[in-house]
Amino acid sequence: MNDPASAFNFTTFPGLETAQKLIESAIFYKRSPRYDLQKGRGKRLGCIFLNPSLRTRVSTQVAASNLGMESIVLNMDKEAWALEMEDGAIMNGNTVEHIADAGGVLGSYFDFLAIRSFPTLSDKEADMRDEVISKFISSTGKPVISLESALRHPLQSLADQVTINQNLPTGRKPKVVLTWAPHIKALPHAVANSFAEWTLGMDHDLTITHPEGYELDEEFTQGANIEYDQSKALEGADFVYVKNWSSFKNYGQTPRVIENWMLMESSFGKAKNAKVMHCLPVRRNVVLSDEILDGPRSLVQEQAANRVFAAQAVLSHMLDLSTGQK
Ligand code: CP
Repeated sequence: MNDPASAFNFTTFPGLETAQKLIESAIFYKRSPRYDLQKGRGKRLGCIFLNPSLRTRVSTQVAASNLGMESIVLNMDKEAWALEMEDGAIMNGNTVEHIADAGGVLGSYFDFLAIRSFPTLSDKEADMRDEVISKFISSTGKPVISLESALRHPLQSLADQVTINQNLPTGRKPKVVLTWAPHIKALPHAVANSFAEWTLGMDHDLTITHPEGYELDEEFTQGANIEYDQSKALEGADFVYVKNWSSFKNYGQTPRVIENWMLMESSFGKAKNAKVMHCLPVRRNVVLSDEILDGPRSLVQEQAANRVFAAQAVLSHMLDLSTGQK
């Protein structure tokens, strides 16, 4: 919605005013999911997945259904032709269809398009350009929603902010902590980038804690307090968002970490009332312990449930924009 390429795309933090409206709208739909059952009647949403998904796929389809909108999923990685991204490529290798052609075709079939495309974690420049979603936007001619790109996961972040909003401590600004956690694989930065961008954009206090070498791109963290000591970072926390990511500086690498960064109940000695958040899927007892995930601190199920209403708020807003109502 604030993407320079189009006033209609939802790919990043849309600014405080719009974000607040989207949070209010999501909370409204949470109370009355089918209030606008006629709003999207006759409109069609294409959900294009270049990577796996459970929550994003299903919540977006449920959200569209709640607005009376038809949605069709295309698992591009498995069911469609291998895409070529490079401009001017001589396509005599494994790729069969150019993004410029596929994007145009999909744009002619749908009123709105949504796309998931993870980073390469090997080609930093292409990932920093958010190449796949950017090329998709420039070729479809239709409003585009990010279902997670190389750099951001805005639908997740909106659901996270709805969750924070509904669990706020009374009478003061919340302390929000984003902590790195262990993992067995190199993971993207999108969820962490986006969570930082939205949390700072909503004017919450944000502390980010991670081992040396796991600094995120400063574009997303400016204004956050960076603390390398996890237990110090957790002091007085209201919300602790747990996520793994790979190194940004040594792009896509996973420098060895000796200390134990997995949160246990004992980690919360100085944050007695802290709630724990994670976007899911989560590798239990690697990223987060069973005792946290199944205990009273966990907001993970609430976050996942809020994905429906976040997507519904965004689709509803895009419908308004497409009909010139707002
Ligand atoms: N949190 C999230 O985006 O989940 P999925 O990858 O299952 O969609």
